[in-house]
Amino acid sequence: MGDDKKGETMSKIYKLLIVTVHVIVFTFLPARAQDEYTPPSYSSRDGFVPIVGKNGMVSVRESIAAKVGAEILEQGGNAVDSAAAIGFALAVTYPSAGNIGGGGFMVVHMAESGETVAIDYREMSAGSARHDLYVVDDKVDNRLAKYSRQSSGVPGTVMGMALAIEKYGTMTLQEVMAPAYKLAAEGFPVYTHLEVSLARSKERLGADPAASKVFYKADGSNYRTGEILKQEDLAWSLKQIMDNGVDAFYKGEVAERITDDMAANDGLLTMEDFAAYKVYEREPVWGTYKGYSIATIPPPSSGGMHMVQMMNMLENDDLKSQGHNSAATLHLYIEAMRQAYADRSLYAGDPAFFDIPVDKIIDKDYAAEIRARIPMDRARESSEVAPTKNLAYESPETTHYSVMDKWGNAVSNTYTLNFGFGNGIMAANTGILLNNELDDFDHEPYKPDANGNISGKANAQEPHKRPRSSMTPTIVFKDDKPFLITGSPGGGTIINTVFQTVMNVVEFDMNVAAASSKPRINHQWMPDLTSMENGISQDTLNILEDMGHKFRTGRTLGSTNSIIWRDGWFYGAHDPRNMNAATIGIN
Ligand code: GLY
Repeated sequence: MGDDKKGETMSKIYKLLIVTVHVIVFTFLPARAQDEYTPPSYSSRDGFVPIVGKNGMVSVRESIAAKVGAEILEQGGNAVDSAAAIGFALAVTYPSAGNIGGGGFMVVHMAESGETVAIDYREMSAGSARHDLYVVDDKVDNRLAKYSRQSSGVPGTVMGMALAIEKYGTMTLQEVMAPAYKLAAEGFPVYTHLEVSLARSKERLGADPAASKVFYKADGSNYRTGEILKQEDLAWSLKQIMDNGVDAFYKGEVAERITDDMAANDGLLTMEDFAAYKVYEREPVWGTYKGYSIATIPPPSSGGMHMVQMMNMLENDDLKSQGHNSAATLHLYIEAMRQAYADRSLYAGDPAFFDIPVDKIIDKDYAAEIRARIPMDRARESSEVAPTKNLAYESPETTHYSVMDKWGNAVSNTYTLNFGFGNGIMAANTGILLNNELDDFDHEPYKPDANGNISGKANAQEPHKRPRSSMTPTIVFKDDKPFLITGSPGGGTIINTVFQTVMNVVEFDMNVAAASSKPRINHQWMPDLTSMENGISQDTLNILEDMGHKFRTGRTLGSTNSIIWRDGWFYGAHDPRNMNAATIGIN
């Protein structure tokens, strides 16, 4: 080949190369970039569809507080800022469970550092507390344990929220509290659920002079939907904290007013108790299930470890083939619950006071061992699983919310006053409803029951101890990214509600709205009864009954607020079991 010919060929090859590069750059690369955009998608095959957001999401039990959280995200705050603002706002707008007079648990995941942490801001008993505090004449005095100031622990919410934003947020305490302050000082329109719950709780709240003055009109009549409810004393307390920081609540004027009220009314909490309060950052309880990782809450909540225990027990069962809420699946759920709650009765409590065998409870070998004990053809008697004593009633009044921001930070928060409106007592001149969380301790831990069984030290009340909880705020991860953020109120039933919600997603591939809506069951080992929500077929109940299962039906179980994050979209749902909840996607 002559030089000219060679040059011509090279030039053709060169041109071809240029054309090829152009084809790649202008055809394939844009196409790939386009492929990276995944439009929102969800299946409606399960009959429910989620709310969708592009740049973050909040899902909250009460809609005014949800809007507060959404606005913080829109203004550029992160999920932790938003969660703290929601926490303070709910203290004003959802007084039955939102609080600064109670406590709870938060799981936080930070996208940039990859860190996931559990924040324990559970209430703490008084320095003068003792295991038989509520026993009078050899009997538990329910008024003392549930409706007196002696049922209150030092509240943790203010310090919990403050620590969260200080370490993981971007805004100041003043900034995240400002919406709550405005709502308390200027008031907000009463919504239907609040009208109903205040009317229903009138006997209790109306008997307390401070609470009565706030929640009912001067002539004693009820607030109606749309009327403005102002809370001036609560606004004062919030302002103290905004201006003087957390110390205002634990060492300053707010603590003084609460402890003055305690001293005047046989309450136990003192300034020393408030000053001794601490929030703990704990390593979450971690579990795995068919490729997902689960970060959930450690003791003093029993929720996380027992949810992981139940998931471990069933991981090798093909529940999907058995069918969602089929008799075979529900049988396994009930038996797993029976085992988990039997273990809970013995082992759950404050880890500072009792060596809780968390590793054993979430161990996969232990799970295989206890799974192997489940007969497939019959229900067990609870006494077959582990005989101790009946557990106390645990109130279902708590509240959960989930938040995610556009950076992938996630917050799962559950907090409470224990009963709706706590013990129904408002500390004078503070606007703060007091919790009755100490009712979550075992009140007669060392006394043999009718069968001679003695439950031990794990959850006995002691000075400066935290009572066992069931709250289960949870983040499920897929490929190391937060995938499902969920949690629920429901007292002792919380663990089972969160367990079923998570299983609906990770085992049965439901979208988050369907997962939140399907009928639930609850078994807590004692009493030996399964609560069934309406909606489980009579055929299924018949089969289970033939196997020896015993039921009660009717009441709803739990109230979840959940978010799924996948393919760059946020899918959220609040539980259809409640009114006035809201899930807001940021676009
Ligand atoms: N008081 C309800 C709970 O802590 O689970």
